[in-house]
Amino acid sequence: MSRRRFMIMGINAAGAATGLLIAAPIVGDILSPVFYKSKQPWVMVADIRHVPVGVPTAYVVMLNDSGDAWQVPAVPRTVYVVKANLSNAVQLITLSNVCTHMQCDVHWDVNLQVFLCPCHGGLYSMIGTNIGGPPPQPLFRYQHKLVGTTLYVRNVLTEGQ
Ligand code: FES
Repeated sequence: MSRRRFMIMGINAAGAATGLLIAAPIVGDILSPVFYKSKQPWVMVADIRHVPVGVPTAYVVMLNDSGDAWQVPAVPRTVYVVKANLSNAVQLITLSNVCTHMQCDVHWDVNLQVFLCPCHGGLYSMIGTNIGGPPPQPLFRYQHKLVGTTLYVRNVLTEGQ
């Protein structure tokens, strides 16, 4: 092998190594959500047999806002548990009570049959859809699971519909 060819191979190898060093964190950052497992603990809410169909029912549970559950103390959060009768099937939904406009607390208004935000009059349907006023999007939903009839949530929010 000639010295010239050896130098070219060395430069190419150094370029490839540099490219890998630059690309690895970028690729890792892009793929990390796929492999991310939430550290948020599941928190018991209630026995869902006590939640009537068609009546959003508020529960206060202690949830961590940080992924580091051992570092930050849990704070009380209101979770609205909804058994909604949709297309002749009862669907279980766990809603945040935080308005998506400017984060005021919404509440279920029995007379109007909507979630009402007292700050600017935002309205949401029983399943959290924004139906009036300034809220730009539906109420967020907590991730939930059932163990038997016991409902658990954790502080992982998804966009509603
Ligand atoms: S904060 Fe709820 S409507 Fe503005």
